[in-house]
Amino acid sequence: MVERHHAEDPLARLRDRTPVLRTLAEAGAEDLPFEGTTVAVSSHLEPKTGIFIETLRDAGAEVLCTANDPGSVHGDVVAHLDAEPGITAFAEPGMSVADLDRAHVELLDRGPDVLATDGAELLAKLYAEPELSTDGVIGCTEQTTSGVSRARAMAADGVLDVPVFAVNHTPMKHWFDNVHGTGESALTNVMISTNTILSGRTVVVAGYGYVGRGVATKARAIGADTVVTEVDPRKAIRAHMDGHRVLPMDEAAEVGELFVTATGNCRVLRGRHFERLRDGATLCNVGHRDVEIAVPELAETAAEVAELEEGITRYTLPDGREIDVLAEGKLVNLTGPYSQGHPAAVMDSTFGAMFLAARELVVGAERDPGVHQLPERLDKDIARLKLDALGVEIDSLTDLQQRYRDAWRRDDIV
Ligand code: NAI
Repeated sequence: MVERHHAEDPLARLRDRTPVLRTLAEAGAEDLPFEGTTVAVSSHLEPKTGIFIETLRDAGAEVLCTANDPGSVHGDVVAHLDAEPGITAFAEPGMSVADLDRAHVELLDRGPDVLATDGAELLAKLYAEPELSTDGVIGCTEQTTSGVSRARAMAADGVLDVPVFAVNHTPMKHWFDNVHGTGESALTNVMISTNTILSGRTVVVAGYGYVGRGVATKARAIGADTVVTEVDPRKAIRAHMDGHRVLPMDEAAEVGELFVTATGNCRVLRGRHFERLRDGATLCNVGHRDVEIAVPELAETAAEVAELEEGITRYTLPDGREIDVLAEGKLVNLTGPYSQGHPAAVMDSTFGAMFLAARELVVGAERDPGVHQLPERLDKDIARLKLDALGVEIDSLTDLQQRYRDAWRRDDIV
């Protein structure tokens, strides 16, 4: 990762850009809703996550934080957090995956009351390691699509014995973070790290969910010729009606110049597609795990593998075609050499929703084990805070409008 130099506090320049979290921290410092509570945060340890962690701490929590991926650990952020009272970091830059695994277990051994996860890594670990248990865990708040799917799979398996708030599935998260945050940060990263223009190039986006739609829409907006691949017929029609070409990956593989996988699934780009790729194709992923592109299979097929520069690996195939993979197939917007993750304005509302979800677990009504939607009142609270911060005012319903909307005999009203 490219070294960045900040003033002493690496979070300083983002504090003004996270007004929702600042408001929650100020209110939390008065009410201390988390007093006596230990919250474990597992996410990309970069500056916005740092502000979220401080917000929890300001609201009274003891915070134990760790990373999802060694590649997205910012050393200056970890050092800053670790030096703060009430915060302990269980991660360091450059650590191996095995070390991170051990750090997760060490953190969980401290018996956190609430988990705030990205990808449900810590939650899954509680059930995977025999020495750990969910005794005393009040619940979990999950930030991303893949983590919610995982928690649902645990529930379907009859394993999940704590409540989980699907924060990803609340509008104030996926309408903005998944669509705009990932769309803009992924493409920015690709353009900066490869020093190429997307205008006039054929960009293939695998998956047309919230993330894929954001990537494809923004790629087209800057002049790319966009192709979408899908497995869900409704999403495929949506992509078609939005003006993208929809193709099976076998065909898309032959025309694409840049491929962005955004499915949350595995082996979306694999051997049969590698056989069809054009010389010079670039592959990258924005889905949660580095399994969407079968990179090990590509490496096995390749006659030569070379680190072209940081974050770009070139695979030269036996027939001479050169295929570049960005960030080793990991999240390109979070682990690429220039990655700064999502813009602060987006993470402000995502982490705001995570904060309210965690607070609800601690001070709200007890909830049954299973995956729960974040209550709509909390989602609207975040939206109001965000509008206030933007200085945007909106209308409210008049009494008459309210009555009209709620009635079925509408002629009596107007
Ligand atoms: P989603 O569920 O809305 O969309 C995924 C889409 O992929 C679905 O439409 C599904 O039908 C499609 N799909 C599944 N398997 C496929 C295959 N083999 N080929 C083509 N399409 C396939 O999920 P969302 O919210 O768009 O998230 C996608 C991934 O991105 C998840 O792993 C999520 O955790 C991750 N994510 C990453 C972020 C980042 O910063 N990089 C931010 C937010 C989410």
